[in-house]
Amino acid sequence: PFDAELRRTGSTVHVPAGRTLLAAIHDVDPTLDASCEEGVCGSCITRVLAGAPDHRDSLLEAHERDRTDVIYPCVSRAHGGRIVLDI
Ligand code: FES
Repeated sequence: PFDAELRRTGSTVHVPAGRTLLAAIHDVDPTLDASCEEGVCGSCITRVLAGAPDHRDSLLEAHERDRTDVIYPCVSRAHGGRIVLDI
Protein backbone atom coordinates (compact mmCIF):
# COMPACT_ATOMS: atom_id res chain seq x y z
CA PRO A 1 0.00 0.00 0.00
CA PHE A 2 1.15 3.52 -0.73
CA ASP A 3 -0.08 7.06 -1.29
CA ALA A 4 0.14 8.96 -4.55
CA GLU A 5 0.04 12.74 -4.53
CA LEU A 6 -1.44 14.18 -7.73
CA ARG A 7 0.43 17.46 -7.61
CA ARG A 8 -1.49 19.45 -10.24
CA THR A 9 -4.86 18.11 -9.13
CA GLY A 10 -4.02 18.93 -5.53
CA SER A 11 -5.19 15.63 -4.09
CA THR A 12 -3.66 12.48 -2.68
CA VAL A 13 -5.03 9.00 -3.33
CA HIS A 14 -4.39 5.85 -1.32
CA VAL A 15 -3.50 2.71 -3.27
CA PRO A 16 -4.12 -0.45 -1.26
CA ALA A 17 -2.70 -3.84 -2.16
CA GLY A 18 -4.85 -5.39 -4.85
CA ARG A 19 -5.81 -2.08 -6.46
CA THR A 20 -3.93 -0.44 -9.30
CA LEU A 21 -2.48 3.04 -9.17
CA LEU A 22 -4.36 3.75 -12.39
CA ALA A 23 -7.70 2.90 -10.76
CA ALA A 24 -6.91 5.17 -7.81
CA ILE A 25 -5.94 8.02 -10.16
CA HIS A 26 -9.11 7.53 -12.20
CA ASP A 27 -11.19 8.12 -9.05
CA VAL A 28 -9.91 11.70 -9.11
CA ASP A 29 -8.94 12.24 -12.75
CA PRO A 30 -10.77 10.02 -15.24
CA THR A 31 -9.04 11.77 -18.14
CA LEU A 32 -5.72 9.93 -17.76
CA ASP A 33 -5.32 7.81 -20.89
CA ALA A 34 -5.18 4.04 -20.59
CA SER A 35 -5.69 1.18 -22.99
CA CYS A 36 -4.07 -2.19 -22.35
CA GLU A 37 -3.92 -1.90 -18.54
CA GLU A 38 -1.19 -4.54 -18.72
CA GLY A 39 1.93 -2.40 -18.96
CA VAL A 40 2.53 -2.97 -22.65
CA CYS A 41 0.94 -0.15 -24.68
CA GLY A 42 2.46 2.92 -23.03
CA SER A 43 -0.68 5.06 -23.19
CA CYS A 44 -0.86 5.68 -19.43
CA ILE A 45 2.69 7.06 -19.15
CA THR A 46 2.88 9.59 -16.33
CA ARG A 47 5.65 11.91 -15.15
CA VAL A 48 6.97 11.30 -11.65
CA LEU A 49 8.00 14.35 -9.63
CA ALA A 50 9.24 12.62 -6.47
CA GLY A 51 9.45 9.17 -4.98
CA ALA A 52 10.66 5.80 -6.22
CA PRO A 53 8.59 3.94 -8.80
CA ASP A 54 8.35 0.16 -8.52
CA HIS A 55 8.33 -0.54 -12.26
CA ARG A 56 6.27 -3.58 -13.26
CA ASP A 57 5.65 -2.74 -16.91
CA SER A 58 7.02 -4.47 -19.99
CA LEU A 59 8.08 -1.22 -21.68
CA LEU A 60 11.18 0.00 -19.87
CA GLU A 61 14.40 -1.69 -20.92
CA ALA A 62 16.58 -3.35 -18.30
CA HIS A 63 18.88 -0.33 -18.12
CA GLU A 64 15.87 2.00 -17.63
CA ARG A 65 14.35 0.19 -14.68
CA ASP A 66 15.91 2.57 -12.17
CA ARG A 67 14.32 5.62 -13.82
CA THR A 68 12.46 7.81 -11.36
CA ASP A 69 10.95 10.27 -13.87
CA VAL A 70 8.22 8.14 -15.43
CA ILE A 71 5.72 5.47 -14.41
CA TYR A 72 3.08 3.30 -16.09
CA PRO A 73 0.39 3.39 -13.41
CA CYS A 74 -1.74 0.57 -14.83
CA VAL A 75 0.72 -1.95 -13.40
CA SER A 76 3.54 -0.15 -11.58
CA ARG A 77 3.55 0.84 -7.94
CA ALA A 78 5.77 2.78 -5.53
CA HIS A 79 8.52 1.96 -3.10
CA GLY A 80 8.66 3.84 0.17
CA GLY A 81 5.01 4.56 0.79
CA ARG A 82 4.61 7.74 -1.25
CA ILE A 83 5.01 8.97 -4.81
CA VAL A 84 4.31 12.36 -6.37
CA LEU A 85 2.92 12.50 -9.89
CA ASP A 86 2.60 15.30 -12.45
CA ILE A 87 -1.16 14.92 -12.73
FE1 FES B 1 -1.12 0.30 -21.45
FE2 FES B 1 -0.68 1.37 -19.04
S1 FES B 1 -2.55 1.25 -20.13
S2 FES B 1 0.79 0.62 -20.43
